[in-house]
Amino acid sequence: MKQERILEVSQLTVEFTTDNGVVQAVRDLSFHIDKGETLAVVGESGSGKSVTSLAIMRLIPSPPGRIVSGQVWFRGKDGQPKDLIGLTEA
Ligand SMILES: Nc1ncnc2c1ncn2[C@@H]1O[C@H](COP(=O)(O)OP(=O)(O)O)[C@@H](O)[C@H]1O
Ligand SMILES: [Mg+2]
Repeated sequence: MKQERILEVSQLTVEFTTDNGVVQAVRDLSFHIDKGETLAVVGESGSGKSVTSLAIMRLIPSPPGRIVSGQVWFRGKDGQPKDLIGLTEA
């Protein structure tokens, strides 16, 4: 069966500026989801699950947050993968 890539997260890093300095909440995270797949993300509290999800949806509050690197390729209804983060855009 041919796999169809729906979501590809590549080298995602998200930082927050705090009173105690810069915190890397997500560091160099990569994963992908193909059509029909379900991905469960498991980790202890504070490990970055919510920040990962928010970054994919471009909902990181900025400031204090910032997506410093990474790409999020999403294949929508038109079938063309698009980079939701768009850090590569001019
Ligand atoms: N607005 C914010 N300001 C500073 N740090 C934050 C903020 N939001 C999340 N963090 C930090 O990012 C890290 C990951 O948090 P989070 O993604 O909520 O973890 P999880 O969902 O896995 O429990 C934690 O260290 C958390 O304190
Ligand atoms: Mg959470």
